Amino acid sequence: MARPIPHIVWKRDRLRVLDQRELPRRIVYVDCRTPREVAKAIKDMALRGAPLIGCAAAFGMALAARRRSVRALDAAAEVLVKSRPTAVNLAHAVSAMRELARSTPPAGLPERLARAAERYYRDDLSFNRRMGVLGAALLPRGAVVITHCNAGALATSGIGTALGVIREAFRQGRVAHVYADETRPYLQGSRLTLWELMQEGIPCTLITDSMAAHLMKVQRIDAVIVGSDRIAANGDVCNKIGTYGLAIVARHHRVPFYAVAPTTTFDPGTADGSGIPIEERSAKEVLELSGIPIAPVGARARHFAFDVTPARLVTAIVTEKGVIRPVNAARVKRLLG
Ligand code: MRU
Repeated sequence: MARPIPHIVWKRDRLRVLDQRELPRRIVYVDCRTPREVAKAIKDMALRGAPLIGCAAAFGMALAARRRSVRALDAAAEVLVKSRPTAVNLAHAVSAMRELARSTPPAGLPERLARAAERYYRDDLSFNRRMGVLGAALLPRGAVVITHCNAGALATSGIGTALGVIREAFRQGRVAHVYADETRPYLQGSRLTLWELMQEGIPCTLITDSMAAHLMKVQRIDAVIVGSDRIAANGDVCNKIGTYGLAIVARHHRVPFYAVAPTTTFDPGTADGSGIPIEERSAKEVLELSGIPIAPVGARARHFAFDVTPARLVTAIVTEKGVIRPVNAARVKRLLG
């Protein structure tokens, strides 16, 4: 596998983040020296993807710990958790770091939280590798698959969730071709997923989001593979806007629909998808494309960043602890233990 460009680098007094908004045109880094700067980078989408913003939030807490005060950690937790509401990995990471801080004397905070954030990052990498192997086993040889958004190395600390499976499956000869939805309006599919796949020489083709149904009708598609930002206790899967429609289309065409996510993406406290907060971003991001207006002046738009796919449309969920199949509350509970 090609060595990826570092996209998040811990420098102890700052977190250096690859600015994903600039990809694939330019490689630009943003330095975050305070938790507030980390929260801004997350909110403004300099870095994105549920597992990666969890890692960044953990490092944000480690930056706050340098001030050796509980008040600084509380303030950091508040600003970080508010930065993006849907991906639960962020809240998990912040509360794990807070918990650790409670049992740490002030003098030991910087070192202990920095180590914990590094461990959180390394764990995510090993989860990715395990999911890659478990997910690849679900695919037939030479599979043609569709993926949505970017659930790759850029969205995690490792090789990715959905793209981790695709990478491993390609290595084993189980994936022959990947169709990537462009993913309006941020274009994570065209800008980021194709960038990653092409660097690795994995055959891939861009489609607009609305082409998936037609593609399934006119040619063989063996699986849809996506990541997730939050999975409810009953197995409802929240992911990038457009995923729900893709799942409906996949069911209609009898194409298996797989979600790939580490257990840090599960939210057992939320009974079903209706309890998941859906981020709604600025309408401007829909009304413009790279700063160029694409609607009449004064037009209105909505910008839901995520949607929820009901568990009944999900063929299986791949986690680092095993595969959930069929997807229902009892199976989710059994896996999470
Ligand atoms: O808005 P984004 O780019 O943060 O959304 C990312 C996604 O929806 C991914 O599919 C999800 O985080 C899973 S990433 C491993």
